Amino acid sequence: MKQIISTFPLVFFFLFFIYCTPTFSQSPAQAPAPPGPTNVTAILEKASQYTTFIRLLKTTQVADQLNTQLNNSNQGLTIFAPADNAFTNLKPGTLNSLTDQQKIELIQYHVLPSFFSVSQFQTASNPLRTQAGGSDGQFPLNITTTGNQVNITTGMVNATVANTVYTDNQLAVYQVDQVLLPHSLFTPPPPAPAPSKPKKHPSSDSPSSSDDTTHVDSSGGIRLSQHALRAMSSIILVLATSFGSILFVSV
Ligand SMILES: *[C@@H]1O[C@H](CO)[C@@H](O)[C@H](O)[C@H]1NC(C)=O
Ligand SMILES: *[C@@H]1O[C@H](CO)[C@@H](O)[C@H](O)[C@H]1NC(C)=O
Ligand SMILES: *[C@@H]1O[C@H](CO)[C@@H](O)[C@H](O)[C@H]1NC(C)=O
Ligand SMILES: *[C@@H]1O[C@H](CO)[C@@H](O)[C@H](O)[C@H]1NC(C)=O
Ligand SMILES: *[C@@H]1O[C@H](CO)[C@@H](O)[C@H](O)[C@H]1NC(C)=O
Repeated sequence: MKQIISTFPLVFFFLFFIYCTPTFSQSPAQAPAPPGPTNVTAILEKASQYTTFIRLLKTTQVADQLNTQLNNSNQGLTIFAPADNAFTNLKPGTLNSLTDQQKIELIQYHVLPSFFSVSQFQTASNPLRTQAGGSDGQFPLNITTTGNQVNITTGMVNATVANTVYTDNQLAVYQVDQVLLPHSLFTPPPPAPAPSKPKKHPSSDSPSSSDDTTHVDSSGGIRLSQHALRAMSSIILVLATSFGSILFVSV
């Protein structure tokens, strides 16, 4: 008993020190982070009403990935969390129609691989890359703002940020009023079988017309390069023959 009492001030001082260290080293205005590494599912569980999203985060193991990412990078993360009623508003069978890989992509689509405060959304440039998209720019989403209102469009869904669930300058969790359905998972793929290289046409307005242009462009490009090749080989042939005859004449 005596021992406990005598170590108590020490323990108290230690806890106080731990509590204060992050607030001293960072901006004093922020909310204190929970102790230990940030745990995305724990934050959502505390907020309640995210049981479906949490279940998907866990079954797809995206939760582990996000926690590791938060611990190991200083880019931070932004998570758009649809509440349970957003999932019940989906067309029946929407989730069941997805493969395991597509479920991972759906959940990763709700994550931006860097921290955004509400005011940072105002200067974000569209389209924004999500955790689901590689360097090839797949799975983008767009954000528009009016004052503090933040709207998200996927091309399939127009959603609104309803409120801030959590923010600590590294992780931001926002409640969105709808499940963000990515265009590429919920529209039938275009029938074009030609394996043409994807080209960016930022100015084109409809996806089907841009596909057509890409097709014409790339086959045109192939035809052109074949022409060039043929022209080059005949020039080489001509050069070689004339060089040969010069040699022949001079010998
Ligand atoms: C994160 O929190 C959840 C729920 O509170 C828990 O089940 C899980 O084990 C925690 N993960 C880590 C890495 O602490
Ligand atoms: C977090 O990162 C540190 C060092 O980068 C590492 O020692 C620790 O094991 C990591 N914790 C988790 C839960 O990944
Ligand atoms: C955001 O969405 C709301 C409701 O859907 C709409 O009234 C508002 O005009 C939208 N704002 C922007 C900037 O798109
Ligand atoms: C997103 O924004 C980009 C750039 O402004 C635009 O080209 C694209 O069509 C937008 N996509 C959607 C789904 O609104
Ligand atoms: C989303 O909003 C845009 C422009 O505000 C509109 O053209 C489009 O039809 C909307 N899409 C859906 C699915 O509501």
